[in-house]
Order: sequence, then structure tokens, then C-alpha cells
Amino acid sequence: MQSSTPAGSSPTAATQVAGLPIADEALAAEVTAGLERVEDLLRQEVHSDYRFVADTSLHLIEAGGKRFRPLLTLLAAQLAGGTSDDVVVAATSVELVHLATLYHDDVMDEAVLRRGAQSANARWDNTVAILTGDYLFAHASRLVSQLGPDAVRIIAETFAELVTGQMRETRGPRGDDPVGHYMAVVAEKTGSLIATAGRFGAMFAGARPADVEALRRFGEIIGTAFQVSDDIIDIASPSGDSGKTPGTDLREGVATLPVLYALADDGPDAHRLRALGVGEEEITDDAVIAEALEILRGSDGLVRAREALDAQARAARDELAGLPAGPARDALSALLDYTVERVG
Ligand code: IPE
Ligand code: IPE
Ligand code: MG
Ligand code: MG
Repeated sequence: MQSSTPAGSSPTAATQVAGLPIADEALAAEVTAGLERVEDLLRQEVHSDYRFVADTSLHLIEAGGKRFRPLLTLLAAQLAGGTSDDVVVAATSVELVHLATLYHDDVMDEAVLRRGAQSANARWDNTVAILTGDYLFAHASRLVSQLGPDAVRIIAETFAELVTGQMRETRGPRGDDPVGHYMAVVAEKTGSLIATAGRFGAMFAGARPADVEALRRFGEIIGTAFQVSDDIIDIASPSGDSGKTPGTDLREGVATLPVLYALADDGPDAHRLRALGVGEEEITDDAVIAEALEILRGSDGLVRAREALDAQARAARDELAGLPAGPARDALSALLDYTVERVG
């Protein structure tokens, strides 16, 4: 994970764990070891005697990614009993569900770049990408079954919520308040799984029920903020820094928060964006994308989206305040800083 150092912390004192500065050495060592176990289990789980399906699955596992969700699971576990076999299984299954959604998302979004590599749909084709996503879901389910019926129910409900968010995005607001619609979409499609990442970590480390619930809520808020920051990056990031193609949301006609805010005022920029069809229809012309990006980068919409992100960070911080103080809570706070500060 790439990150800037949170304000107020000393960059030299902290160990980087998946790009996150963790000040407490013992905690950093345990989380690093946990992430290594997740990496091993990911590879082991997707193994198949039919080599091709293992290769297509390994394609994005090996391309990297931030491992944000397993990191949250491992950090949440540190608030209670720490890394156990079940915590590693939970962290791995959450990453596998995420990975599966990326294969499917790139088909829906016709994206060609993912984790700095060719997307599976671009490297092979849509059929291969869809089937690989299904294969990864199947293996995530297999792993979760080791955690018992409660975990199976939770992951099933999470997945239904995530898919509902994708469906809501695909259908569009249809007369509903567009910002309200957007917030529902991001909470469902992204917040839901990150909420479960936090909840699972706490649950399988034996945390108190009130802390499990606080970690779930923290995950939902930080997950929603994570998607808002991703949508800001889609517009503000100058190149392929994100490992994805900037402007993908515009190309797909998906109106994200900065776009909605930019369209909401009555100035010349909003009129021009509307005339270009931004947020309303698919845009295929690169020159139109470039013009829209330039307007959006200088717009009040971007400023307002950043303010919304700051408000979410404050809400997430309120959740953290109710958790036991210590190195694990400090690391969760650093994860929140990273989520907000990655937009630059
Ligand atoms: C991408 O998630 C999809 C979103 C929810 C924005 P990540 O940004 O966590 O993707 P990877 O795992 O690092 O590739
Ligand atoms: C991805 O949404 C959310 C899920 C995979 C559930 P996006 O389409 O906004 O994410 P990126 O930008 O392609 O990663
Ligand atoms: Mg996408
Ligand atoms: Mg998408």
C-alpha cells in the first residue's frame, strides 16, 4: 500500500506494513507475519489441477494490490486475541471476495488496466474474466465454511449487499436524489465488504460484542470513505498512479461524488460538463474525457468531495474513540489517515 506519513507521527519511528506506518514494533511484526500467511493461503486456495484456472486467478493476486481488507481484519484482531488460524482464514476469504468482484467489475466497466497489469478481460476475454471471478467466489465460500454458519451467513449477506450496490449503480438514481443515491451505492458496493473485514477480525479474535459491532461500523465508514477517495483519484490522479486508467468512471457514464457536486451548481463549468454528457452517458472520445477531466480538476466539486471525505473521517474517528486505547487502535487510526490522505 502506498501511503503518506500521517501528520504528527515520526516517519523514522514507524515500520511500514503494507505501506502503513505502524509505530509499535511487536504489532508491526505480528501483522506482517499475518499478511504473509494470507499471501500463502491465497495462492494455496486457488490452486487447481486444471492449470489455466489457477493461472487466471493468480494473474491479479500476483499483480499486487494494497491488501487493504486483510490488513483491516488483522488490525481489528489485534484489539483482542490477535492473529489466529481463523483470523487468517477470515482475512484471506475477504480478499478473495474482493478479488472476484474486481474481475467482474472490470468486465462491467470495460476496464483494461488493474493493479498496474492488464485486466483479465483485456488479457483474455470477458468469459474468462467472469468465470475466474466465479471460481474465486467459490473458493472464498469454501474457506468461509471453515469458520462456521455465522460467518457463512455474514459473508452471504455482505455479498448480497455488495451486488445490490453494483445493481443500484448500474440502474442510476432514476429521479431519486443523486447524492443520496451515490452514498447508498458506495456504502453497499464497497463499505459492506470492508465492514465485514473489520467485523471478522474482531469476531475471530474473540473481541467483546460491542467492539465487534464498533469495528463493523468503523469498517463501513472507512470503506465508504475509501470509495469516495478512489472516485476522487479517478479524476484527480494525473497518470496511472493508481494502477488503473484515470477517467474510467467518466467513460462509463458513472457520476461519482465530485462530478455530482460539480454538476450541481449553475456556473459555466457545470453547463459545459452537461453539454459534454458527463455523468449521463458513456463517453468514448478521448478529447472529451481530457476536457472533462481538466474542468473537474479545477472545480468546486472536487473541493466539496474532499470535504465529504473529511466528514467521513471524523465519523470514523468517533467509532475508534470507543475502542480500547493502545497500539492496535493507533494503527487503525493510521489506516484512516492513509485513506483520507491518499487523495493528496
Ligand atoms: C478497488 O479496491 C475497488 C474499490 C473499492 C475502490 P482497492 O483499491 O482496494 O484495490 P486493490 O485491492 O488495491 O487492487
Ligand atoms: C468497484 O467500484 C467496487 C467493487 C469492486 C465492488 P469501481 O468500479 O468504482 O472500482 P474501480 O475504480 O474499478 O477499482
Ligand atoms: Mg471499476
Ligand atoms: Mg465499477
